[in-house]
Amino acid sequence: MTTLNIPMPDDWHLHLRSGEMLNKVLPYTSSHFARAIIMPNLPSPVITTADANNYRQEIIDNLPENHHFTPLMTLYMTESTDPDDVRLGYMKGEVQAVKLYPAGATTHSDAGVKNLEKIYPVLDVMEQIGMPFLVHGEVVDRDVDIFDREAVFIETKLIPIRQRFPHLKIVFEHLTTKEGVDYVLSSNENTAATITPHHLVINRNAMLVGGIKPHYYCLPVAKRESHRLALRQAATSGDARFFLGTDSAPHLINAKESACGCAGIFNVANAIAVVTQVFEDENTLPALEKFLSLNGAAFYGLAVNDRRIVLERSEQCLPIPDNIKLAEGEVTAFDPMMDVYWRVRG
Ligand code: NCD
Ligand code: ZN
Repeated sequence: MTTLNIPMPDDWHLHLRSGEMLNKVLPYTSSHFARAIIMPNLPSPVITTADANNYRQEIIDNLPENHHFTPLMTLYMTESTDPDDVRLGYMKGEVQAVKLYPAGATTHSDAGVKNLEKIYPVLDVMEQIGMPFLVHGEVVDRDVDIFDREAVFIETKLIPIRQRFPHLKIVFEHLTTKEGVDYVLSSNENTAATITPHHLVINRNAMLVGGIKPHYYCLPVAKRESHRLALRQAATSGDARFFLGTDSAPHLINAKESACGCAGIFNVANAIAVVTQVFEDENTLPALEKFLSLNGAAFYGLAVNDRRIVLERSEQCLPIPDNIKLAEGEVTAFDPMMDVYWRVRG
């Protein structure tokens, strides 16, 4: 059997939710990932360091006993976020980053930012202390086509922010376009990007051909094939500016299969397997550990994990993971619509 042994991966963009959902989804992450950047878009968002400490405790309380997992907490940026709270939380190691949701861009983003200038005092502090600014990079203007919202964000929002804050560490979250890849490649080491497993393997056809497929709907929405190819090239290149953020975002089936379905794909159950298969298919397996385990840690200024995982390649294609069962319904696991031979041992 072919195996690969790599440092334990980290997930640099993860939605864990709370309550029973948290309890059910967390073990999928904590069994194979050492750390994850925990997204703060709860129904009542994680805005202050005190909120983040409470949420961290809830996560830790739900960890299976033998799992060793470190949640890296983020704050949800609002127009009234207190720069001193951000500075103190970061200095104490209680929060790692602040996440920008343009108001209205995605799930639970209503408390997000409308006027970017309002957050400049917070960005000033973050630039000084080296704290990463995580960006949901889509404009929300009604007259901008949803497939163009990332590219327009770069031109109208990101470039001005970068000019005003040249040393700010920025992570362009869940990159979905060639324009995004090109922007990151044209930047220096202060700009990085997370890429999801699903955007490496599906394009918008998955969602729209042969009927509308809500389980392939996420934000930013999957784009056309040329964008997927640009993302694959970026992820598998080993370039230090690209690393895994699963953006695993569980919703109950009835919230997805609805006249107004929620955005989000639950993919952590097979994220490492799917990504490994992508690297094999691209003949770039030697670069896998950079994308999964090295680049993100370096960008965040953290040590690479001491623990390691073993990836095994089977002769037979492996099944799609089972759905997760909760009291109120199920969460559908991501079907990558491709043959996957790899899995994580244990
Ligand atoms: C995320 C969610 O459901 O919280 N959904 C998604 O489609 N990715 C929010 C987000 O990251 O945009
Ligand atoms: Zn997300």
